[in-house]
This record gives sequence, C-alpha cells and structure tokens, in this order.
Amino acid sequence: MNKSTSERTASLLPAVRLGNIDVPTPVVLSPMAGVTNWPFRVLCEEQGPDGLYVAEMVTSRALVAGNPKALQLCEFAPTERVRSLQLYGVSPSIMEQATRMVVDGHMADHIDLNFGCPVPKITRRGGGSALPWKLDLLKDVLQAVVRVCEPAGIPVTAKFRVGIDDEHTTYLDAGKIAQDVGCAAVTLHARTTAQYYGGHSHWEHIARLAQALDIPVFGNGDIFSAQDAIDMVTQTGCAGVAIGRGCQGRPWIFADIKAAFAGEPLPPSPTLGQVAATIVRHGQLLVEFYHGNEQMAVRDLRKHVGWYLKGFPVGGSTRQALMSCESLVDVERVLSQFDPDIAYPEQIQDKPRGRTSFARKVHLPQGWLDSQHLTQEEREQVIGADPLDASY
Ligand SMILES: Cc1cc2nc3c(=O)[nH]c(=O)nc-3n(C[C@H](O)[C@H](O)[C@H](O)COP(=O)(O)O)c2cc1C
Repeated sequence: MNKSTSERTASLLPAVRLGNIDVPTPVVLSPMAGVTNWPFRVLCEEQGPDGLYVAEMVTSRALVAGNPKALQLCEFAPTERVRSLQLYGVSPSIMEQATRMVVDGHMADHIDLNFGCPVPKITRRGGGSALPWKLDLLKDVLQAVVRVCEPAGIPVTAKFRVGIDDEHTTYLDAGKIAQDVGCAAVTLHARTTAQYYGGHSHWEHIARLAQALDIPVFGNGDIFSAQDAIDMVTQTGCAGVAIGRGCQGRPWIFADIKAAFAGEPLPPSPTLGQVAATIVRHGQLLVEFYHGNEQMAVRDLRKHVGWYLKGFPVGGSTRQALMSCESLVDVERVLSQFDPDIAYPEQIQDKPRGRTSFARKVHLPQGWLDSQHLTQEEREQVIGADPLDASY
C-alpha cells in the first residue's frame, strides 16, 4: 500500500490491528461456506488488497480427523496477504487440537471462530449461534483456542449473532468474554438465530457492542453497497465492516468500499464483458483449487454465475445453458455470445441478494434455554455430538 492511500484511509477510518496483523482498510470478507474458498477470496482481495478475507468455516473435528475436504478448505493461494481461517466446534478439547494442528503446521496467520451458524442441524446440538447462550462453554472454547494461539502470535477473533431471539440475547456477554480471554476483535452479525437471514440486521446492537468493548468490533449484516458500509460505520462507531451476501457475484464491492472509506469516487461498475471475463477467471482459479478437476470447478462456478449475472438482460435459455456446462470451454463459448458493452444493471447495485429467509423454528437441545450454564448432562450430550461436517 502506498503512503498517500494510507493517509487518506486513516482520515475516515483508522487501520485495525489484530495482534501483529495490520488491516489498513478495515473491511472483512465474511466467511461463507461454499463461497469463500481461495479462488473467490483472491478475486475479492485483488479488488481491495488490504482488507481481511476469511476462509469458509472448517469443522474442528473434521480437521483433527484429517478429513480431505476439511484440509482442502484450509488451502490458501500464495498471493493471499493474510491467511485467515475460520474454525467451528463445540468441544473445547477438539478445538484445542484443531488449533494446535493449524499453529504447529503454520497453516494460518489468523483464526476466526464461528458462533453464528443458525442451521438447525448445528443449533440442535448446541453449536453455532446456540453456543454463546452457555457462557461457560463459550469461555472454555475461546480460551482453549487463544491459549494455543497466543504464544505463536496468532490473533484470534470471534464472530457471533445477537442471540437466540429477542428474549435471549447474548452478544454483550459474548463480547466481554471474548475480550477477557484475549480475542483481538469480534464480529457481530446483528441478527438473532430466529431471524436466520430474514428481516434486518439491527445495527443498534453493533453500536452498543462497540461502546461496551475496548477491542475492535466489526459490524456485519446487510451491507450491499459502499454507502451501506459508510452508513454502518457512521451510525454504529464500529471499527470495520464485514461483507457477506453483498459480494456474491460482486467482488468489486471491495474496491467500492475501499474508495468510499478513502473519500474517493467509486470506480466505474463493470460492463457485461468485464463480468464475463471475471467469470472465466473465477473458473480458471477453481480448476486450480480442484487440482485440475474441471467438472467440479464448473459445478462450483454455477452458483456464482447466477449471482454474477443478476439483473443483466441475459435470457433464461442462456442462463440454463450456463448451468449445464461441464467444462470451462463450454462456459466461455456461452459467455462469448454476450454483448460485452452492456452496462451494469445499476438498479440492483445496492439491493439485498442471497438468502433472505426467516427461521421456521429455532432448534435447540432440550431445555437449553433453562440456564446459561451447561449441566453435566448437557456437556456430555453436546460435546459428544460435535458433528464432523457442519457446513452451512
Ligand atoms: C451461503 C452462506 C454461507 C455462510 N457461511 C458462513 C460461515 O462459514 N461462517 C460464518 O461465520 N458465517 C457464515 N455465513 C454468514 C455470513 O458470514 C454473514 O455473517 C451473514 O451472511 C450476514 O452478513 P451479510 O448480510 O453481509 O450477508 C454464511 C452466509 C451465507 C449466506
């Protein structure tokens, strides 16, 4: 980063420091299972090269078991400035083992911990966003990870939601616990588990948490444009922002936010030709990620293609043709039929994208909400049931 950029960024939002890691533009690519593998992270980082780009969550049990898929999720591209890994787990001892693997194997520079997953198969076992309700378990898990990371100089951050529902909020306690055990920062997705991805992210909770803690708080939820990022920072006083669905099919949102934080004009939106070129490049990186398996790469690419082309005047049959491609050459052939000069559909620029549903019901272990402390019985039930695959 050159000096003038650093000075301009500092004028609006200071760099965030996580242990020995500097984040000059405090913008985070929020971890997304099935999305933020290294090919997508590389595309995002190229747009705003001094934020933090977090890998999708890896289940600690799967990692400890040497599961090949879990190990693949831990791969980074050589160009990634900071290797940020996200771990998920409910057992302090398994989380400790997984962390030791990461630290001893020099597998990451930063570890984020996931306490925000709302998926029923996770919460019904007391994991993800159900876990912070049990304050003692939360502390045990955080402490187990920080204890291994601290001597190695690896910063640990934690990501959580507001709570289970409006009557059972946990974020202020969770934030204080994270700070007390030595986490370098926290991220708050300002929805409850009951909200899932529906309704709004309640940014007032981000403001309250930023007030309550001394460590940096990254605000998360419903940033779909650079203006949203500015609004979140000014309305909440958060130290930085984390972007999830807003970058699906739009890695350039990181360039927009970087410019906005620096007080500079936003770069022009890409034309359809430039979007098509990004799709091809994404596909090529995915082929590398899947070690040459083009079919897997193209299948992974499909969901991204849907997001990339959102709002463009591309007919249903062409979209269908792209969804059934089995090779990159096929993808390129279909894309080459587009008019490259078609302008970006501005009407969808700042609109919500991705999941927007509410939870039908929050699934929790029997009696989970009766106490904020884990009973012996719950401890055995929950820790014994820590799943091997916890994908979102
Ligand atoms: C498809 C998908 C996968 C996700 N996977 C993860 C994950 O692995 N770890 C995590 O902490 N959050 C995960 N999230 C949550 C996001 O990181 C983020 O907190 C949430 O989408 C709210 O931010 P947004 O409004 O900017 O999307 C996921 C979200 C989506 C939509």
